[in-house]
Amino acid sequence: MKIAITGANSSVGMNLLAQVGQQPDLQFIAGVRSESARNALPSSAQISSCCIRYDDAAVLAQALAGADCVVHLAGILIEGKHSKYREANVDATRTVVDAAKQIGAKHVVFISVVGADPASSNAYFRSKGEAEALVAASGLSATIIRTPILLGPGTAGASALASAARNPKAKALGGGHYKMRPLDIDDLNAAIFNACKEQAAGCASHELVGPEAIAYCDLIKKTARKINPDSTLEVGSIPIGFTKLMAGITSTLRGGGFTPTVIDVITQDEEVSHNGFAELGVTLTSLDRTIEKILEK
Ligand SMILES: NC(=O)c1ccc[n+]([C@@H]2O[C@H](COP(=O)([O-])OP(=O)(O)OC[C@H]3O[C@@H](n4cnc5c(N)ncnc54)[C@H](OP(=O)(O)O)[C@@H]3O)[C@@H](O)[C@H]2O)c1
Repeated sequence: MKIAITGANSSVGMNLLAQVGQQPDLQFIAGVRSESARNALPSSAQISSCCIRYDDAAVLAQALAGADCVVHLAGILIEGKHSKYREANVDATRTVVDAAKQIGAKHVVFISVVGADPASSNAYFRSKGEAEALVAASGLSATIIRTPILLGPGTAGASALASAARNPKAKALGGGHYKMRPLDIDDLNAAIFNACKEQAAGCASHELVGPEAIAYCDLIKKTARKINPDSTLEVGSIPIGFTKLMAGITSTLRGGGFTPTVIDVITQDEEVSHNGFAELGVTLTSLDRTIEKILEK
């Protein structure tokens, strides 16, 4: 079976491609937007790479031709001057869905986020919700996986956590009292591989979160104790209101970056009604083990 991956140079994509040796029956087409991203992909006889664009479904279909499944990873939380939610999260998904239809893909896997909602007042959650709706309305056999903060090599969440835990004066927005359900990136990889292999009919949407709910301040302290069992690290507070005000000004001047929208995403409680790990065939990694793994790297 051949699996095409969009946004293959994303942290999720790089972790997925690092695991291909454990899936010897699978071949991969790794789609990225630049030659430099292409050069940074892992090299393996199972992986062929290509430069792709998201503005023309027919062109994208040519690049992904021959794939049985399409795993759509391209997407952003932090907007840049030239990369906005509409283009990166919504329009790119529309093009990928159209291309998947054109190549006769048997299944599409779309990575979304806990909280995605086309009616959300938050522009990021709204864009991911609109993208989900495009996948659901496509008529394609598809699996939508809504994930929380992902912890694994190269993820933004793991880097921020490790650096906060190593900082003797750790600080977090509002003291870090918001609840998270961190997911080990290897568990997401397992879910993606399973969905590609099963190719369940229709479009199914699952929330997939880690086994433990924890406040971010406690997650930082737990990680600090993994580094030094005697750690008595305290987590100070960065005022949310003032930070949002400053982020609003600087992001407007810069045309992107750390915005009030991003701050609202980071500081919301990650709550799910049902954790779909069993339906996705995943055995969840304990939070302790996940933290140990990211510190080992
Ligand atoms: N990381 C998390 O904790 C987390 C949590 C929930 C959901 N997710 C979802 O998981 C997926 C992967 O996340 P990630 O954190 O691994 O991503 P990432 O490392 O931030 O990489 C973002 C990817 O999106 C591509 N991209 C950026 N702007 C684009 C545009 N305008 N059009 C098309 N592609 C564009 C990037 O390509 P270039 O390098 O060429 O810019 C890159 O491949 C995303 O859909 C994200 O929403 C991630």
